[in-house]
Amino acid sequence: MTQPRSDVRHAYISGTGFFVPEKVVTNDDLAAIMDTSDEWIQERTGIQTRRFAADGEGTTDLAIPAVEEALKSASLTVDDIDLIIFATCTPDHYLPGSGCLLQDRMGFREIGALDIRVQCSGFVYGLSIADQYIKTGVYRNILLIGAEAQSSGLDLSDEGRDVSVIFGDGAGAAIISATEEDRGILSTHLHSEGKYARELWVESPSTRNNPTISTADLEAGRHRLKMNGREVFRHAVARFPEAIVEALQANNLNMDDITLVIPHQANLRISQMVANRLGGPNDLIYSNIQKYGNTTAASIPIAMAEAISEGRIQSGDYVVLVAFGSGFTWASALIKW
Ligand code: ACO
Repeated sequence: MTQPRSDVRHAYISGTGFFVPEKVVTNDDLAAIMDTSDEWIQERTGIQTRRFAADGEGTTDLAIPAVEEALKSASLTVDDIDLIIFATCTPDHYLPGSGCLLQDRMGFREIGALDIRVQCSGFVYGLSIADQYIKTGVYRNILLIGAEAQSSGLDLSDEGRDVSVIFGDGAGAAIISATEEDRGILSTHLHSEGKYARELWVESPSTRNNPTISTADLEAGRHRLKMNGREVFRHAVARFPEAIVEALQANNLNMDDITLVIPHQANLRISQMVANRLGGPNDLIYSNIQKYGNTTAASIPIAMAEAISEGRIQSGDYVVLVAFGSGFTWASALIKW
């Protein structure tokens, strides 16, 4: 059992990693199987390509290489980790959680493995949980994963085209560690508004029905993600800036102090509108949705790992992570790197 430590104060990101499956799917590939076009997809979402997992490649399979890279970059091993937090809305199975599968597959000690289901906001919610455990001295190193294998659930017919052109598969991981230095996670801010649950949801399987999924559900496509695109857009362009400003105000900072904003990669048009509302330089908001599409809980840790490898984040920089998604949920975190 991990002993409580009273001398630990801050939680910082000591390592990151990401992995995307090999198969690249272009907009033209989608246009060959449904009524869409490269022009429509790029104009509405900015997406050029996304990755799709291979048959038999599930969420945990994608997470493992990302975790290996994160551990390596933190110079830690599986034995150093005190808790696994696994954010996903596409777990390998309905139960148990993917965190347990990963614990076994990678040979972690018999530590806690906690799946969280907060969709696109999952990584920032997970960061908030990790921050509390570290600040209070309970744990020293926490593994936080955001991973999704969404492609097997997408409706690639004309009927599902409004949703399926947006999403892709991938995984990102971060190690959250304790430090007594003056840096790390400064604050996190979590929100939800469940009255909009049905604007972005998967209705079946549902415990309100017995059996939880029926042939009629499958025929009606109730097991597919459904999105009210206009409502999502309207709320996202308000909640992203709100959550960023909330994080700045909580730390007496302003936009000029921020080196990089890493948003959930929902849609390039949403990010551009958020950038316009906030002001600041063009490259303040990080984007890699062009390559990977929307990878839900994986998008922030993938973007963070790429931004670090590109030299976009240096020691001492202030960075904001911000998310919005199904629930609706939204959240932000301000980090001094
Ligand atoms: N290819 C071609 N045409 C399409 C496609 C497609 N993939 N999908 C829908 N269409 C058609 C519709 O059938 C409709 O056709 P119609 O006018 O003949 O009926 C037309 O395109 C609608 O296009 P728009 O006029 O652009 O519709 P709207 O203004 O409602 O915009 C959109 C739709 C692009 C989805 C917009 O609502 C949007 O960008 N929403 C944000 C959704 C989003 O990005 N979600 C991210 C995932 S959720 C998250 O991460 C938080």
